[in-house]
Amino acid sequence: MLLEKMLQSQGFGSRKACQQLIKNGAIAIQGEVQTDPKYKLDLNDLNFSVYGDDYQYREKVYIALNKPQGYECSHQATHHFSVFDLFDPVLLNRGIQCVGRLDQDTTGLLLLTDDGQFLQALTHPKKHVPKIYQMHTADPVTDEQIEALSQGVELRNEKGIFAATEVMRLAPQYLQMTVHQGVYHQVKRMLAAVGNKVERLHRQQIGAFALPQHLAQGEWMYLDAAQIEQAKLRNDSL
Ligand code: URA
Repeated sequence: MLLEKMLQSQGFGSRKACQQLIKNGAIAIQGEVQTDPKYKLDLNDLNFSVYGDDYQYREKVYIALNKPQGYECSHQATHHFSVFDLFDPVLLNRGIQCVGRLDQDTTGLLLLTDDGQFLQALTHPKKHVPKIYQMHTADPVTDEQIEALSQGVELRNEKGIFAATEVMRLAPQYLQMTVHQGVYHQVKRMLAAVGNKVERLHRQQIGAFALPQHLAQGEWMYLDAAQIEQAKLRNDSL
């Protein structure tokens, strides 16, 4: 691939802007400054720098964010910050999108990508990728509520029954459960449907990919190939 095209694909602006960066001597390839925009690159294991900042060439990006409270999953956040405020403009130029949404007050694992197929694979209602949530509840969780959540509840204006699996009371007012769809406010509405209320909600896992412990709130990381596959693991029996 031509150097100017590679830079453009990685979010460094228009073809013209990338040509200018190259001519300015801002770009080094494997440590060597390269001033020819038409320089031909091997993309395998390609590392480059822009004004001394190091980058790795990535055809697509897959990101795990530990979302803090008070951030909306939209570009035009109205009453809160936007999760996109947490990323470098170079990544935003690539058009990364949230893989499903978390409410502004929900914390935990949020995936973002510029790979439309990956996004579709995880968010299509028929795919049934399991998502594990943990929540503090307003009232102690009863056995009847656990049973009702496992059997499935109806949600207003939604078709079908919404059931959780692996519903576990970790403390009297602290519940973990796995859901397989992703309708608006699903977990909060399910808890309301059984007569309780979610006070604080956290997403711990998507597919077989758990939020890494080292990732503090507001921090993010790139997923490697194995982690991408883990995130896609779904339950075909549902
Ligand atoms: N269910 C909810 O109610 N809120 C979220 O943020 C995610 C799932």
